[in-house]
Amino acid sequence: MTLIDTLNRPLRDLRISVTDRCNFRCVYCMPKEIFGPDYQFLRRDQILTFEEIERLARIFVSHGVRKIRLTGGEPLVRRDFPQLISMLSTIPDLDLTLTTNGALLARQARALKDAGLKRITVSLDSLDNKIFKSMNDVDFAVESVLEGIEAAASVGLSPIKVNMVVKRGLNEESILPMARFFKEKGHILRFIEYMDVGHSNGWRMDDVVPAAEIIKMINAEMPVEPLDPNYRGEVAERWRYKDGQGEIGVIASVTQAFCSTCNRARLSAEGSLYTCLFAVKGHDFRDMMRNGATDEELSNEVARIWGKRGDRYSELRSENTVSLPKVEMSHIGG
Ligand code: GTP
Ligand code: 5AD
Ligand code: SF4
Ligand code: SF4
Repeated sequence: MTLIDTLNRPLRDLRISVTDRCNFRCVYCMPKEIFGPDYQFLRRDQILTFEEIERLARIFVSHGVRKIRLTGGEPLVRRDFPQLISMLSTIPDLDLTLTTNGALLARQARALKDAGLKRITVSLDSLDNKIFKSMNDVDFAVESVLEGIEAAASVGLSPIKVNMVVKRGLNEESILPMARFFKEKGHILRFIEYMDVGHSNGWRMDDVVPAAEIIKMINAEMPVEPLDPNYRGEVAERWRYKDGQGEIGVIASVTQAFCSTCNRARLSAEGSLYTCLFAVKGHDFRDMMRNGATDEELSNEVARIWGKRGDRYSELRSENTVSLPKVEMSHIGG
């Protein structure tokens, strides 16, 4: 049964955060001043167990979800993470994938593949160590992420997508080197406009490099042409190199909002369901489960929440919405 929200959008995509912890402190996501040594991360008993995640995943799939993306924080820091992949990969007709910062990927690629993972998305904001380290803020080297990407490719995770958040004045100069490098490698690089997620990154409109500007810059050196989306509601706008050597994408959630086709729900590590990346409040499923709710009750709750959904934050974004309280990105993944 397909669920439809108040704006006629189906529920197709579920993003599950498996931990609020991360081994990076990206300045646009988990700035050190806030996520410092005293920051209270969730305790183990507060986060969903793998069994609870699998149970909810199956209920969402019964409501029409066809893609599950595992996120964090950083999903690969969760203990025994490949075991969760092996549990979820038994669900039929499901595109199961994950987004990682790549730091632990070289070590885990084989186990993830063996557990049934097909493809992967790796975040990388620059090939220049000085810039990359100033963004991850934990002195993590580019080379180790590239080793992770190589390991993923060599075990056959495919396609490999690379996400680059572009922030004005910080890593604009990395756009062309990144495009050249991943064109050569044959991986799909996607440029993400810097967004006002959470309430700790100090976002300003001036920090955004519009996707159109990025495309113009790349086109001047390596001509590109637009490609049709792979599926309705795809987040990235696709472009292909005219020489036939690969494709790139831009995720223009600030300058070209895509809420009208948004079919995504997000489940936080503690089991709250959010119907928008910019939501203020989630709907708790963890306590429902721990208090003995049946599958039918959980399923009805999903239907009830999706049925009254009307979120379209990016279409309504203005100088005034920026300061609204919102859930942190590291809490519900990207
Ligand atoms: P595919 O499954 O490969 O099509 O990837 P995807 O684009 O769904 O997944 P990915 O996690 O790589 O998304 C890329 C980035 O786009 C995320 O990290 C977010 O920054 C942004 N993004 C994804 N979904 C949304 C959304 O619903 N709203 C907004 N505003 N941004 C989103
Ligand atoms: N704006 C845009 N993208 C962001 N990400 C994290 N924070 C932001 C932000 N403020 C990206 C990460 C990763 C994905 C999970 O979301 O770089 O690719
Ligand atoms: Fe960690 Fe990803 Fe946030 Fe960076 S963007 S701090 S890697 S969760
Ligand atoms: Fe979906 Fe909210 Fe993003 Fe709009 S802002 S695309 S409704 S998650």
